[in-house]
Amino acid sequence: WLGYRQIENENLLNEYVNTLSYIHLEGDSETLKVTKKELIKGLMAMLGKNVPFKNLENSTNSLIVANSKKLSSSILEKVNDDLKELNKDGFIIKTIRIGKNKHTVITSNDDVGVLYGVFNFLRLMQQNKSITNLSIVDSPKLDVRMLNHWDNMDRTVERGFAGFSLWNWHTLPDYIDQRYIDYARANASIGINGTALTNVNANALVLTPHYLEKVKALADVFRPYGIKVYLTARFSAPIEIGGLDTADPLNADVQEWWNNKTKEIYDLIPDFGGFLVKANSEGQPGPQNYNRNHVDGANMMAKSLAPYKGIVMWRAFVYSEHDSTDRAKQAYSEFVPYDGQFLDNVIVQVKNGAIDFQPREPFHPMFGAMPKTPLMMEFQITKEYLGFATHLAFLPKLYEEVLSADTYRKGKGSTVAKVIDGSLHNKKLTGMAGVSNIGNDINWTGHPFGQADWYGFGRLAWNPHLSAESIADEWIRSTFSNDEKFIGPVKKMMLESREMVVNYMNPLGLHHIFDTGHHYGPGPWVGNLSRPEWNPVYYHKADENGIGFDRTETGSNALEQYAPELAAMWGNLDTCPEIDLLWFHHLAWDYTLKDGNTLWDGMALKYQKGVDDVQNMVTTWEAMKPYIDSQRHNQVSMLLKIQLKEAKWWRNACMLYFQTFSKMDFPEGMEKPD
Ligand code: GCU
Repeated sequence: WLGYRQIENENLLNEYVNTLSYIHLEGDSETLKVTKKELIKGLMAMLGKNVPFKNLENSTNSLIVANSKKLSSSILEKVNDDLKELNKDGFIIKTIRIGKNKHTVITSNDDVGVLYGVFNFLRLMQQNKSITNLSIVDSPKLDVRMLNHWDNMDRTVERGFAGFSLWNWHTLPDYIDQRYIDYARANASIGINGTALTNVNANALVLTPHYLEKVKALADVFRPYGIKVYLTARFSAPIEIGGLDTADPLNADVQEWWNNKTKEIYDLIPDFGGFLVKANSEGQPGPQNYNRNHVDGANMMAKSLAPYKGIVMWRAFVYSEHDSTDRAKQAYSEFVPYDGQFLDNVIVQVKNGAIDFQPREPFHPMFGAMPKTPLMMEFQITKEYLGFATHLAFLPKLYEEVLSADTYRKGKGSTVAKVIDGSLHNKKLTGMAGVSNIGNDINWTGHPFGQADWYGFGRLAWNPHLSAESIADEWIRSTFSNDEKFIGPVKKMMLESREMVVNYMNPLGLHHIFDTGHHYGPGPWVGNLSRPEWNPVYYHKADENGIGFDRTETGSNALEQYAPELAAMWGNLDTCPEIDLLWFHHLAWDYTLKDGNTLWDGMALKYQKGVDDVQNMVTTWEAMKPYIDSQRHNQVSMLLKIQLKEAKWWRNACMLYFQTFSKMDFPEGMEKPD
């Protein structure tokens, strides 16, 4: 999306050239240096000529780029009211007149905000918007907007489908790959301001001096772009690399070890962001190994980080084999009782749903249920459960659905977005994390449309109230084309793509029926793994009588973890939306759906619809050939054909398997498996 294609429309080109006769850029901080570079790069490419830099005297039609502290009083007075509205890193883009002269001002109270303003301005041009009369005041709604890389030290990436890790630990710290810089540019352009470099299934090695030197090199590259580096902290690090015989968070030596380690990190990286921790989850060590709790563990690290203003992101993704009634209930049960006990620099990081990044999940019941604890959203950008980097599923649609869901915790309108932007309960620390889909693949994300998920995540971390539709529009224009004949069909296809995946994989509230381990392709039949909640049969519970997970009062009663309005809505078959039906109910195969079909027929027709819609996507994309380069067209085309083949595979596998229970015929309208 930073391709900066040359502006083709002549009228528009004239408008841009006339509005941008000169650039006046104040300041020479590292951030403003990269801001200047980006401006030159973007304008040169889009206008086909250099815009000269000039002092302001006697000029007109200048682009004025400066921190507000550097603005002259005549300019300042035109933007002063807007400046007061800005949060940290917010920016203003405004057309002003001084006497006869007209100028465009990009300013902020912080240098990084100026950089964000410039990226935003360039994006307006990429989208062929008019720039003659601008008045934009925009601020991030969340403090921490970060990527979580699940990158291992050997450069493999957990759930990574776009090659190996970008971080070349072997050649760092001396060799700075241009891709580190381009990665920072791409992130800054959408407002991402943090990156956790390493896997949540952490390796303590990254905290040793040898690796910290390498981490510092990356932090130095990212700093001008406003991006802080974070690391995953393995709870048992004091034992593994510190020579202690315990990692008990209440042990004084352990606290001291973390204090010293933290100081060592800040000596190298003064703006280090903090630690991301997966503890007592899926075999990872944590405070419970010492009969302590999440508060003890998180607060211990928080104490070490507090003097430097660092934060702890303590993950709520926990579930245990010892409580196998309903995995969906465990995080809430384990965390909600501790509301109010975490230190101020702890933020609890909660996945969007209570199971695990499924194609569709109701929002996690913790959102809204911990009024005294900062909670940050964790979305997955890499598509572990949505066809890896092979299938197209535009994820901002999923993110939007979760963010706009109503928790009802403070009455109607208490959306998840308001929980995480802090406005619902007046939280001081806010954030959103996305599990990265980036690797060293030539186009970063494997599937060319995977970039849209990265882009969309960043835009929503900046403002969780944006629509998926507007994000798709921006991304298509910047990435491919401003031709309406291309934008219309491609946008439609993107916006529908996630629902297609839901339909051909997990319709009507089904979930986690993936082949186990790798999670690619169907595997609803698996039922002999060591832990019950790792078996797909645990989730669909199909038998002769029907299918679905009863989470109402007659079942696990996970519904009680939601506000009463929602518990009532989901609990009642008349009001439960059919997209969530089998998430909350176990129903007979001949249960009648709203359209009059039996559950069995309705399920079959959903699977079929998923396949048909992918077929339509293939056809739509074929017709897009004239509008973009053949290389990207062909690449997407090949991937879509795989998606079609695999949508059929999903339909056939699931329907044939479930038929062994339902013993019913496939309905008219479903293509029969061969
Ligand atoms: C999923 C995923 C794991 C990952 C885990 C987590 O279970 O399959 O690979 O480690 O989530 O988020 O910690």
